[in-house]
Amino acid sequence: MEIRPYRQQQDFRAVLDAQCDLYQINFPRFVCTPVFLADQAQRLRVAGRRPMENGIFVLDDEGTMAGFVWVAVRVDLQGAYGSIDQVYLKPPYRRQGYGNWLMNAADGFIKKQGLKTARLYVTRENADAVRLYQRLGYEVTRHEMERHF
Ligand SMILES: CC(C)(COP(=O)(O)OP(=O)(O)OC[C@H]1O[C@@H](n2cnc3c(N)ncnc32)[C@H](O)[C@@H]1OP(=O)(O)O)[C@@H](O)C(=O)NCCC(=O)NCCS
Repeated sequence: MEIRPYRQQQDFRAVLDAQCDLYQINFPRFVCTPVFLADQAQRLRVAGRRPMENGIFVLDDEGTMAGFVWVAVRVDLQGAYGSIDQVYLKPPYRRQGYGNWLMNAADGFIKKQGLKTARLYVTRENADAVRLYQRLGYEVTRHEMERHF
């Protein structure tokens, strides 16, 4: 098992194939459509060609993609930061500590870029993800609130 940089040719399909699951877990009413997948494919193609702005790392289990993390360098009113856009493990690889491996790879990329802040969004109900981030020292700095009618 190893963490290595994303390779567009080798990993594109596996990362794309994970997109429906990733979004369905985090957005319960989300419907995975061909249009959504085409948009994600385009984003990934562009990101894969810009390794300075996108740190994508793959957890490789002897040639099989077990998971990946995707970090993007972004700028907002507070300056530049590393945005952990996607963290994903295929179901058999969850709850064994590999989430930690992926997040360490993300940290390494962010620090290498000279950035001081990592930021991410997570759905409150996603308990495994929330626990992982809290263990690593992530704190809640903003609440997204909604009410239903
Ligand atoms: C979010 C996600 C990456 C977290 O991965 P994870 O496997 O739960 O997290 P870790 O790899 O850190 O595993 C930690 C758990 O495994 C357990 N574990 C078992 N063996 C372990 C080992 N050798 N080392 C460390 N932890 C181990 C830990 O005790 C811990 O359990 P706990 O949280 O009950 O204390 C994973 O659940 C996932 O891919 N989910 C679907 C996609 C998703 O929702 N992504 C997040 C979007 S914001």
